[in-house]
Amino acid sequence: MKIAVIHGPNLRLLGTREPEVYGKDTLDDINGMLSEAAAKSGATIEAFQSNHEGEILDFIQEAAPRVQGFLINPGALTHTSIALLDAFLSVSRPFVEVHLSNLARREHFRHHSYLAGAAAGVVYGFGAQSYLLGLQGLVAKLAKR
Ligand code: DQA
Repeated sequence: MKIAVIHGPNLRLLGTREPEVYGKDTLDDINGMLSEAAAKSGATIEAFQSNHEGEILDFIQEAAPRVQGFLINPGALTHTSIALLDAFLSVSRPFVEVHLSNLARREHFRHHSYLAGAAAGVVYGFGAQSYLLGLQGLVAKLAKR
């Protein structure tokens, strides 16, 4: 089972970006944790980060034929991008949305996600652990198919 992990805008700065909000783990730390956890479930991950919405759409369309599902932290695109929602609807692969921070406790504009209604599940508020919980949920869902 192969899963694509997508990190949206500004997430390459994890570790130094507002650590009081997003924690001290770097993107490499998170990808490493995900690889290890995936291997234990007999899965592999392919990680991708971009600051550019169009590149993320291209990646979703290119990766879809070779992966069974997507784990995504869309960053700020969560709250703005209908194009990202449409990309997932177009490729008919399940995806799980994750966030490091507890969106419900933050600014009002972070409370709405364009993707959540189409996601297999959403996990937020657990720091890097959100990714691991999201991966676990996605793997379990895919295993049932
Ligand atoms: C985030 C939350 C978003 O609102 C923000 O724009 C991010 C990170 C999170 O992981 O908590 O870039 O997705």
